Amino acid sequence: MQVQIVESLRAAILVIDRERLIRTTNPAADEILGVNARDVGSPVDETSLLRRFPALARAIADVAEGGDALTLEGERIAGFDEHLVDVLVTPFGDEVSAGGVRGVLVVADDVSDAIATKSRLIQTERLAAIGRMAAHVTHEVRNPLSSIGLNVDMLGDEIHEAGPEGKRLLESIQRELERLESITEEYLRLARLPEPSLTPQDLAEFLNDVAEFVRREMDAAGVELRLDLAAQLPAVAMDEPQFRQALLNLLRNAREAMPEGGVVKLEATRYDDGVRIQVHDEGPGIDEEERKHVFDMFYTTKERGTGLGLPLTQQIVIAHSGKIACKARHPHGTTFEIWLPDLDSLLARISSAPPPPTTKTTAWRVG
Ligand SMILES: Nc1ncnc2c1ncn2[C@@H]1O[C@H](COP(=O)(O)OP(=O)(O)OP(=O)(O)O)[C@@H](O)[C@H]1O
Ligand SMILES: [Mg+2]
Repeated sequence: MQVQIVESLRAAILVIDRERLIRTTNPAADEILGVNARDVGSPVDETSLLRRFPALARAIADVAEGGDALTLEGERIAGFDEHLVDVLVTPFGDEVSAGGVRGVLVVADDVSDAIATKSRLIQTERLAAIGRMAAHVTHEVRNPLSSIGLNVDMLGDEIHEAGPEGKRLLESIQRELERLESITEEYLRLARLPEPSLTPQDLAEFLNDVAEFVRREMDAAGVELRLDLAAQLPAVAMDEPQFRQALLNLLRNAREAMPEGGVVKLEATRYDDGVRIQVHDEGPGIDEEERKHVFDMFYTTKERGTGLGLPLTQQIVIAHSGKIACKARHPHGTTFEIWLPDLDSLLARISSAPPPPTTKTTAWRVG
C-alpha cells in the first residue's frame, strides 16, 4: 500500500541514506529530478542531479550533517526540460553513522506551470494597464500630428525658393513625422486587436505559405530560410491573418538579428497535446537580463524599432490559448518558441471551461 502511494505521487520522492547512496525513487523523480530506479544503490554524487541543481546539493549536505529540515522555493533545475520546483529536504530515519551523518528525504513538487501561469497573468494585467494609458496618449497625439504634417506640406509649397538648407530641414521634419505616424499606427493596430476569430487550419499549409511570403525579403537580406516540418502535424484553430502577423514578427526579428546574413530555421513538430513552432536564428543572441524584457511594450534596441512587435505577437498567441517563450541558443543565436493546442485539445478545453468572466481586462479601446 505504502509503495503504491509513493509510486503514484505527483511529487518526486528521493531517499538518500547516510552513505549518500540513493535508496528510493518514484516515477515522478525521473520526470522532475532526472533520477530513476536504475540509480537506486548508486551514490547520489554520481548522478548529474547535484550538478544541475547546486542549491539541492547544499541543502542535502546541510541536513545530512545535522541541520534542520529545509525548503527551497521556485528553484530552477537545469536540464533538457527545465523545471521549476518547490523542494522539502528533511532528515530520514533515526540511525546516525559514526561520522554523525543522517539519511535525507527529498520531496520535490514541479511548480513550472503554476509559476508560468502566474507570471502570464501579471504580464497580461500590466499590458492592459499600459495599453489603456498609451491608448489615451496616442489618441491625443494623432490629431495634432496630422495637422502638423499638413502644415509642413503647405510650408514646403510656400518656400520653394528657399535654399538647399531650408529644403533639408523641411525634409528631416517630414521624415520624423512619418516615423511618428507609423508608430501611432502600429500602436493602434495593437490596441485595437480584435478577439481572434478561430477557424480550423492545416498548419503545414499555413507555414509553407508564410515561408513563401517572407522568402523574398530574406533572400534580399542574404538570409537563407529553412523549413523543417514534422510529417504529421495536427490541425489547429487560428485566426489566420493575426497568427500570420505573429509569425512574421518573429521571422523579421530573426532576419534583423543577422545583418550580415545567415540561416533562419522555421520548425514545427507535435508537442504534448499541441504543436511547437520554433524560429531559430544565428544572430548575436539575447542575454538573460535582456530576455526578461523582450515582451515588454516599447522595449527595443533598434534605432528605428517600435518595440511593439513582440508584445503584439505575445498577445496574439495568448488569445489563441497558446504560449510563447524566448530561449538562448549556444554558442549564439536565439530561438522563439510558440506552443499551440491542437484542435482536439482546444475543443475539449473549451467544452469543459467555466463561462467566461463578464469583464475583460485585455481588450483596449481607443477613442
Ligand atoms: N531574434 C532576435 N535576436 C536578437 N534580439 C532580438 C530578437 N528578437 C527580438 N530581439 C530583441 O527584442 C527587442 C524587441 O523586439 P520587438 O520585435 O518587440 O521590437 P523591435 O524589433 O525592436 O521593433 P519593431 O518590431 O517595431 O521593428 C528587439 O529590439 C531586440 O533587442
Ligand atoms: Mg520586431
